[in-house]
Amino acid sequence: MAMKVLSTGIPLKSIPEKYIRPESDRPNLSEISEYENVPVIDLGGNDRAEINREIGFACRNYGFFQVINHGVSEATVEKMLMVAKEFFNLSVEEKMKLYSDDPSKTMRLSTSFNVKKEEVHNWRDYLRLHCWPLDKYAPEWPSNPPAFKEIASKYVQEVRELGFRLQEFISESLNLEKDYIKNALGDQGQHMAVNYYPPCPQPDLTYGLPGHTDPNALTILLQDLQVTGLQVLKEGKWVSVKPHPGAFVINIGDQLQALSNGICRSVWHRALVNPDQARLSVASFLCPSDCALISAPEALTADGSGRVYRDFTYPEYYKKFWSRNLDQEHCLELFKN
Ligand code: OGA
Ligand code: NI
Repeated sequence: MAMKVLSTGIPLKSIPEKYIRPESDRPNLSEISEYENVPVIDLGGNDRAEINREIGFACRNYGFFQVINHGVSEATVEKMLMVAKEFFNLSVEEKMKLYSDDPSKTMRLSTSFNVKKEEVHNWRDYLRLHCWPLDKYAPEWPSNPPAFKEIASKYVQEVRELGFRLQEFISESLNLEKDYIKNALGDQGQHMAVNYYPPCPQPDLTYGLPGHTDPNALTILLQDLQVTGLQVLKEGKWVSVKPHPGAFVINIGDQLQALSNGICRSVWHRALVNPDQARLSVASFLCPSDCALISAPEALTADGSGRVYRDFTYPEYYKKFWSRNLDQEHCLELFKN
């Protein structure tokens, strides 16, 4: 039972067979473009039109950007990282009390991605929490470390506000009303994945997370400043997202690609692991309400090309997403008109 997770504190000399990728599907470290980074956008300025332009450019061309002066307090961010590290440093026995490989659970510690479905595992443990409404879900979060609930509650609320502000900028960058996306997504759900990538003795044979797109609407990722690992696919090349001090990494998920009629792009990204250091990231996912119909507005289909995707709801999409392997074809392909 105990060895189901990777974060046991026991270093391994080699990786077990079930983590080794076939040769055609390994991180080719020489292929990485070291000279490019995703745009870093300052949300603190007064020139709203300029912020909209930068966000619009990033959403169309990268699907990813980093934001600074984002309004989430430094103290909140630091405490969240600290308590996340503390959690993964707990004993295996303590952590295993929360273990589950059932994706329908609203609070669980798990490993890899979808252990029961996948053929090759990923070098990652993660704590996955439903977060909104807060008063419904926070009580079931870990009570060890004792400060976890309080710190994560504050984090969830501040990040949610940032997410809504970003949705306003993205709406405006599409020439839609400021509130368009927020209204179209209804009463948004929010999930969090606290990802822990232990040191890996053979990082060239496996992934922390293989290439995937995020199934939700918008992702707000806090990544470890010291340890890099996140990469984004840009024009067929993997670009490392170098952590920018004080920044969040933002990416467009499948729902916003559909809602924007394919203008904003939910792009492939992956996480590599490294031999010496554990890496931590905290991903917050904003999701459409279960009853919101994901359907591109007429303003974005007016050129006569029509809707790229058929209308669907998030529960329908999510079910399809979790029934597959993470690194199969883009899940949105299955919803094309
Ligand atoms: C994710 C993800 C990247 C990272 O959790 O969906 O892409 O760097 N994480 O942990
Ligand atoms: Ni992702």
